[in-house]
Amino acid sequence: MTNQRRPDGSLRHLITLDGIARSELEALLDRSQRYVCEVGAQPPANRKLAGITIGNLFTEPSTRTRVSFELAGRRLGAEVLNIEVQLSSRAKGETMLDTIYTLQSLHFDMFVIRDSQAGVVAHVAKHVAPHVSVLSAGEAHMSHPTQGLLDALTIRQRKGERFDRLTIAVVGDIRHSRVARSAYEVFKGLGVGELRLIAPEGLMPEPGEFAGGVRYATPEEGLRGADVVMMLRIQKERMAQAAIPDGDEYFARYGLTVSRLRLAKPDAIVMHPQPMNRGIEIDSEVADGPQSVIRDQVRNGVAVRMAVLETIARPRMPAP
Ligand code: CP
Repeated sequence: MTNQRRPDGSLRHLITLDGIARSELEALLDRSQRYVCEVGAQPPANRKLAGITIGNLFTEPSTRTRVSFELAGRRLGAEVLNIEVQLSSRAKGETMLDTIYTLQSLHFDMFVIRDSQAGVVAHVAKHVAPHVSVLSAGEAHMSHPTQGLLDALTIRQRKGERFDRLTIAVVGDIRHSRVARSAYEVFKGLGVGELRLIAPEGLMPEPGEFAGGVRYATPEEGLRGADVVMMLRIQKERMAQAAIPDGDEYFARYGLTVSRLRLAKPDAIVMHPQPMNRGIEIDSEVADGPQSVIRDQVRNGVAVRMAVLETIARPRMPAP
């Protein structure tokens, strides 16, 4: 497992939620909740990260994660720069590490990295200077830890802290999903009652993964009595062309419609990490309906990222 801690045991990097203790997850969620702000109200802000410089390096597209990490850093008083990787010298063949070393020389303290290649975030974390922290903003199919935390926070706001009383159904392309893997890690860490995995065979994870998760081939079997229904996007960018399911057929068999949602508990909540493909994995009537908490997930993203940055950042050493 990636070592993401300082010698004193505190979190220095955030690469995975695997191995983070329940008490630590709960502390992160408590701290996140303090930063949650209703849309339209004045968002909370302070200067806890004043003097810290954060670089966002995203080599895959992002709307929510990049913008919310940027807002989170700014609302804590940090300087935040989005490094346009396509316009940086990486486009001329510079390695990721040389880019990082250059930014380190320019006094960057934290890097937020999204990359399509598994292992890149840990590789960078292993080579940065001792005062520098590295956070994953989504890594290949492996991990999206702040998404896992914001998903758990959203569930906790609606269903309370007793995850052991909950049945959570994850539906769709679980095989290629970093969101599902981080969700699994945080739900397991919080002691979820029952985790259900609903997918066609080709989109199910490998047999050894998601230990304890109960597998269902159809939503008709798997959605019954669920408290939480988490829909996933088909990750076309991680599949060979031949393996991509036909959209209409997929919607007919796996799309979350109003009638399928009736199989879950009447007060079940519907989640989706977005970006979503309306009419493929979810019907607009459900995505925009009264049981949807999809926009709460986005709002919670800033709060979670503020809590994570604040937890990980160390005050800068005073100048000599
Ligand atoms: N959920 C999520 O990671 O969205 P983005 O790809 O827009 O960041």
